[in-house]
Order: sequence, then structure tokens, then C-alpha cells
Amino acid sequence: MGELALVAKITHVPSMYLSELDGPRKGSRQAAIDGHVEIARRCREAGVDTLVVFDTHWLVNAGYHINCGAHFKGLYTSNELPHFISNMPFEAPGNPALGHLLARACNEHGVETFAHDATTLNPEYGTLVPLRYMNGDQHFKVVSVSALCTSHYLNDSARLGWAMRQAIETHYDGKVAFLASGSLSHRFAQNGLAPDYAFRIWSPLLETLDQQVVEMWKRGDWQTFCEMLPEYATKGHGEGFMHDTAMMLGALGWSRYDSRAEIITPYFGASGTGQINAVFPVTQQGGDSIPGPQSSAAQGYRAFPRL
Ligand SMILES: [Fe+2]
Repeated sequence: MGELALVAKITHVPSMYLSELDGPRKGSRQAAIDGHVEIARRCREAGVDTLVVFDTHWLVNAGYHINCGAHFKGLYTSNELPHFISNMPFEAPGNPALGHLLARACNEHGVETFAHDATTLNPEYGTLVPLRYMNGDQHFKVVSVSALCTSHYLNDSARLGWAMRQAIETHYDGKVAFLASGSLSHRFAQNGLAPDYAFRIWSPLLETLDQQVVEMWKRGDWQTFCEMLPEYATKGHGEGFMHDTAMMLGALGWSRYDSRAEIITPYFGASGTGQINAVFPVTQQGGDSIPGPQSSAAQGYRAFPRL
């Protein structure tokens, strides 16, 4: 019935907001903003009705959670970086029915997931910053998914992504985009050094690691990337432990995914972290199962069961 029409890994750096405002940072993140505008344009062209955002700024300690309120509106100030994002207005329609559909599918696939429609909880800035550039006219409905998962298996996040895709393709009457909102390496500059690292990566090691990962994405080496993801998430300081990326790859077919990333905004540094906007073409994935990590790199992680 429905369709997963677009999948992307996106940045949400607060300096995009600063880039709009008068001051020394004005215009400095135009490339990232232009990338969001382009991804939104493609979503509109594809007939997407709802953006589902895997938000690495929504910290959860137990279970997976979906914020599917009927309507979001307010002024947002970041508790992490209140000097960067302060009193930023936001407004977007929600999609409670889709949120509940997604949660039901995740639970049926063994991933405990809660949908919250009657809630005072508003989305975090991993959702709100992209919406500012993708959805200023409130064209899209929005659903936000917790992806800063402190005590979770990456395999469960991958299975959640797969379950959500199945739910859309089987039961949803419409078109959806999945946006994995998080960075690559995410080692913030040490306190006091932030200005020096405003446009740089924290270390040559992390920058090299990120660059190699981007090359894997560009050539479609998903077998290698999926095998190294658990170690990359920890040793590479992945944002949200890279649960957004695991969700996205789960939806695409995990190591069986057979396409290549299209880079929309080239890799860039922000406050020490590694950022990108990239689209991952959705390809047909036959059957009901997706393979899980097989290598020793996956030791310590629960086997990714066949679905
Ligand atoms: Fe972030």
C-alpha cells in the first residue's frame, strides 16, 4: 500500500540556526541549509506526506519511543546549547495514526516501542532544526523517534527500522521519508576550545575514520560498514551511539542493502563533530528477513534475529 519514498542521513547542527542570524556566523552553514532544502524538495516531488525523524537528541533509557502528537507548536531552547538555540519558534502537524501503526509493527517484531500522542513532550532539536529548513510551510506531517538510546542494542534499532518500513509498505496509505538525524563522529571540542573547532573535526583519527565511512557509503560497502558499526559507534564517538544510523540501515535492508549514498552536502566539521547530508536510494528488498552482524566486531551485541 504505502511507500518508503526517501531515506537520508542528515545534519542538525545548531550553527545552521546561527547562520540565519546577524553576527559572525551568518551564512556559514548555507551548504547544510541548502542540503535540507534539496532533500525536502525531493520529498515533495515524491509525494511524501510525513517525515519520520530518528532523533539523536531524544535521550531514552528504556524502550523505544515515538512522539506522534497531533500538532507541535512552541518556542524551543536547547538545554544542551542554550547560547546557540534560544526561543526558536516551531510548528508542524503530527501524524498520530502513523505513530501508532509504527509502534505496533515494532512490537510485533519484538522491539518494545511506545507511541505517545497525548503528550506535552515536544520534539528535540534533532527534529526541530531540520524541520525549520524542510518544512517551514508545514507541508509535511512529522513523527519523531527516540534515537539517543543509552542502554539499547544496535540490532534492535536496526530491526525497528525494518519493522517500520514493513508497516508503511503493508498497512499505510501514503508516502513517508525516514530522516536519520545525527552526525558521524561526535566528539565535541573540549570546553574552551569550541571557537577553534567551529569548522573542524576534533582529531585526525576521527576525521580519517569518518572519511573512510563516507567512502564506504559512496561505494556501497554495506557488509563492511554493518560489521564495524558497533565499534564505530563507540570508538568513533557516534552521535546517539549511532542508533539513528542503525534504524536507517535496518529500513534499507542492513548489510543486504544494494545501493550507494548520494552526498548532498559534503562532509564538514562543526564544533569538533563530523557532519553530512546524504540520501540513500530505497531499493526493493525481497523476503521478510534481513541478515545481522556476523563478525567478531558484533560480539557483545545480541544476534540480529531473522525476521
Ligand atoms: Fe546533535
